[in-house]
Amino acid sequence: MNTKPEVIREGFNIAAYNTMGISATSRFFAEVDTLEELKEVLAFARDQHLPMYFLGGGSNVLFVDDYDGLLIRMNIKGKEIQNENDDHLLLKAGAGENWHELVMYCVEKGWGGIENLSLIPGSTGAAPIQNIGAYGVELDQVFVSLEAIEVSTGERRTFSKEECRFGYRDSIFKNELKGEYVICSVVLRLQKHPEITTSYKALTNALAEKGISKPTIRDISNTVIEIRESKLPDPSKIGNTGSFFKNPVISKDQFHTLQKEYPEIPHYPAGDEIKIPAAWLIDQCGWKGKRFGDAGVHKMQALVIVNYGNATGPEIWDLANKIQHSVQQKFGIALTPEVNIIG
Ligand code: EPU
Repeated sequence: MNTKPEVIREGFNIAAYNTMGISATSRFFAEVDTLEELKEVLAFARDQHLPMYFLGGGSNVLFVDDYDGLLIRMNIKGKEIQNENDDHLLLKAGAGENWHELVMYCVEKGWGGIENLSLIPGSTGAAPIQNIGAYGVELDQVFVSLEAIEVSTGERRTFSKEECRFGYRDSIFKNELKGEYVICSVVLRLQKHPEITTSYKALTNALAEKGISKPTIRDISNTVIEIRESKLPDPSKIGNTGSFFKNPVISKDQFHTLQKEYPEIPHYPAGDEIKIPAAWLIDQCGWKGKRFGDAGVHKMQALVIVNYGNATGPEIWDLANKIQHSVQQKFGIALTPEVNIIG
């Protein structure tokens, strides 16, 4: 029987460890800085048959109850060039590196590829789980591989890009392998002569307004930061988890029926189907800026649910359910949360 590793605390309030700022108690909590600590903690949890949940930046999770298990905050750091030639380099980054700081580090060095993903809250290890994306770029475009530990055995495994089965805000770690592996490091392929991606309309418009016709990666990063700051709440000031729901994908038939009634409905191609911005659907149902106690819908972006101070997990979840219900009633579309609901 393993004794309880020193790094494990009991009856721990996790308000500071989730960006929604939900006050909840975890029966056990550990912040791990090294692979060895992680392995010790996993062995203890296996002995005790504890459920486990892994936290990165806590920016994509809603606790709707206390957690009767072990929460593990991944804090394994490190940045290392694995390989390079005249055009590219492979950068390995620890799961506990803050994502935005990693982006800033790359922009600083002049390495292109992730500048469009500036200011996304969360950790590097969490980025592949939902294949983070914004302003025309998704993580899988620069992703090479990751190293993970199998929770049930403590064994190390490398996952190639194909093995991660990336999709829109999706990967194998949200599906078949959910909860089975913990990501310890990620390898990205970055460009030394960056090719800029300016396909996203809001980004193209913002660059044009600033009179920038040949943007550098720093221009892209700065502009993305400005756009995000202008419409997304800063989690250090107002609790939130970014987009609460995924943008739904519907059939062409359903889309054409809706378009007859709502000719202005925004839409994007998604393979053989059509993606509709969830923000627009929620906005049309009149939710933007609504507030119920300390739970509300952000006034600048209808897809973001916010905690103005002391909202509880169930209050936030109740609001999310009401939003889902009204979008279902009005448009016949089911919204799926992008955040993980725990408890
Ligand atoms: N819109 C509204 N009302 C609003 C906001 C937006 O009607 O309150 C409509 C507008 O028509 C707008 C469209 O929705 O053109 C799309 O809005 P936006 O460009 O803000 O993007 P989004 O689809 O709402 C997605 C990601 C964001 C990412 C942005 C920029 C998802 C679920 N969300 O949002 O990601 O930053 O694109 O690329 O895919 C996140 O995942 O946490 C996140 C913030």
